[in-house]
Amino acid sequence: MKRYLVTGAAGFIGTNFVKYMLEKYSDIEIIVIDKLTYAGNKENIQKEIDDHKITFVRGDICNSELIEDIFTRYDIDYVVNFAAESHVDRSIANPRVFLETNILGTQNLLDIAKKFWTIGYDEKGYPIYKEGKKYIQISTDEVYGSLTREYIDSQELILDEKVRKIVEGRKKLKTYGDKFFTETTPLDPRSPYSASKASADMIVMAYYETYKLPVNITRCSNNYGPYQFPEKLIPLIIKNILEGKKLPVYGDGSNVRDWLYVKDHNKAVDMVINSGKVREIYNIGGFNEEKNIDIVKLTIDTIRKIMEEEPSYRRILKTDINNISYDLIEYVQDRLGHDARYAIDPSKIAVELGWYPETPFSTGIEKTIKWYLDNQEWVNSLN
Ligand SMILES: NC(=O)c1ccc[n+]([C@@H]2O[C@H](COP(=O)([O-])OP(=O)(O)OC[C@H]3O[C@@H](n4cnc5c(N)ncnc54)[C@H](O)[C@@H]3O)[C@@H](O)[C@H]2O)c1
Repeated sequence: MKRYLVTGAAGFIGTNFVKYMLEKYSDIEIIVIDKLTYAGNKENIQKEIDDHKITFVRGDICNSELIEDIFTRYDIDYVVNFAAESHVDRSIANPRVFLETNILGTQNLLDIAKKFWTIGYDEKGYPIYKEGKKYIQISTDEVYGSLTREYIDSQELILDEKVRKIVEGRKKLKTYGDKFFTETTPLDPRSPYSASKASADMIVMAYYETYKLPVNITRCSNNYGPYQFPEKLIPLIIKNILEGKKLPVYGDGSNVRDWLYVKDHNKAVDMVINSGKVREIYNIGGFNEEKNIDIVKLTIDTIRKIMEEEPSYRRILKTDINNISYDLIEYVQDRLGHDARYAIDPSKIAVELGWYPETPFSTGIEKTIKWYLDNQEWVNSLN
């Protein structure tokens, strides 16, 4: 039986990861550590805790005594590090905590994993580790910096057969440029958030190069789905639409992000844990680029359609249905250093591990919006 230490699992992606893994495997043990910052909500995984499917520890990944205590009590096989300060705007206002959690927290986890997994040393002085152990760092496409944005309408698909599965059913790539981030793209982070994540990635690689610690790094694009804190674009827009509030859009709304359904992301993380080659970095994304303004308009259209077709949902509206329109959009001063475009080339994980996303964007966005409409109690409990 494999034992996972999952950090930050009261947050958006970690919550979904725990649920995904418990649905998929019956013979695993999960220990969660989460500091429960504003972004962490224990309620997300309370049922799993109550059903004794996971063990929850409240604490900071920077706390070495606590992490050592977890490693002493449980023979951890995999560390999956989701814990992070994750909101770019907050990193602009207060960078320090990003450096503490994202860099020092990562280093603390690596150090303790190294200590507890070491069983000896080879003739050159490198540690030898217990079989089957691995550290997985959940990183981001933002470490690569920013790409230029131009609309390429005519870009036909020229993809390896295995990569083609990622865009099944599409005749063209849905992209805003012909350059993508690959795993060998030089790191060029621009915000305190992405700089802290890039630093953490370099520390992870340093632990492989210096100590041969078995590691993987995954770098994913923008996730969307259930349990995302409503400060991020999609849940914030949904919340404001329901309340009849203005929808703030940075600059002219033309910044492009590559959108990935959270379950598809977690499927990739699971594949990397099981089959990823030690030391390798895997980009995870689905050639699914959208401008922020188009995401906002799509969310308005989808909610309006749901309200018209399923009147029972109107009970959660704090505004008149006729107010659900593009008039809610309000362009606000652009974010400082706002990256124009992120776009992942996921060919490596598709070819090496056979990963492809299973949720088309149109399905994923509708499922996501429905989830927030159906879980208003969850949204309101975060106020
Ligand atoms: N959400 C995305 O679209 C996205 C995209 C790319 C990469 N990522 C990365 O994925 C990971 C998870 O992102 P998310 O969106 O779920 O973030 P989130 O902000 O929703 O959740 C982060 C969780 O970490 C916990 N945490 C924060 N500091 C901690 C600390 N010092 N010790 C222990 N726990 C702590 C929080 O309480 C929270 O539960 C992050 O590492 C993030 O950088 C996210």
